[in-house]
Amino acid sequence: MARSALLGSSLAKKYWMALTGLFLVVFLITHLAGNLQLLDMSPAGQLKFNAYAKFMTTFPVVKAVSYLLYFSILFHAFDGFLLAFQNRKARPVRYVKENAGANRTWASGNMALLGALILFFLVVHMKSFWYEMHWGAIGTDADGNKDLYTVVAAAYSQLWYVALYVFMMAVLALHLFHGFQSAFQSLGLNHPRYTPVVKNVGVFIAVVVPVLFALIPVWMFVNR
Ligand code: HEM
Repeated sequence: MARSALLGSSLAKKYWMALTGLFLVVFLITHLAGNLQLLDMSPAGQLKFNAYAKFMTTFPVVKAVSYLLYFSILFHAFDGFLLAFQNRKARPVRYVKENAGANRTWASGNMALLGALILFFLVVHMKSFWYEMHWGAIGTDADGNKDLYTVVAAAYSQLWYVALYVFMMAVLALHLFHGFQSAFQSLGLNHPRYTPVVKNVGVFIAVVVPVLFALIPVWMFVNR
């Protein structure tokens, strides 16, 4: 296949968007499972979370997957903006009825805006935790592990920061709401019996994952 067909066409872009997007959903679910440990704010829970964070930043297989993750985030964002730009150029004036179709929602027409907000969130989020874990002047806990728990708890003791997370999880919910089912369509995985199931799974993920993510800062703020 010619290079332009593999990477350049708008169909190819959608295909790669779908693959990287579904990989990011898998990451989100595992990231959530790990972070739910933060709900245990006892001293033992703090040590457990720090040991988990150490494992996630040092175990070679996880480290390798992390590089794939960074690449996927950048690729998904870059490809998404290119696609939105191409669509704009092809149709500078939006059809008035564009959002009136059966599969059209506010989220589906604003995926690039939602994606841009998530990218902004990721920059703030990674500076707060990921950068601190890797390069920050971070203390150690009783087990000698980097005390990431205290960094997270300090961040979530600020109301504005908690509010930002809750708002951003609503943005994430809208992005997932359209993105999950759209990925299956882009991959050509349409089936009269399974497509409704995919849609329902998408709605479930779009609600449950962001709500549980948002619960963590709220819980830590309330119990600080
Ligand atoms: C309350 C919700 C969340 C908490 C408590 C949380 C916590 C953390 C922590 C502590 C780290 C640093 C861990 C490390 O360096 O290994 C981290 C990294 C990261 N987080 Fe989150 N996170 C949350 C939500 C999210 C969401 C919604 C996204 C994506 C939209 C996200 C994307 C990432 C990414 C991409 C990294 C870097 C992962 C890596 O280096 O492998 N996080 N998060």
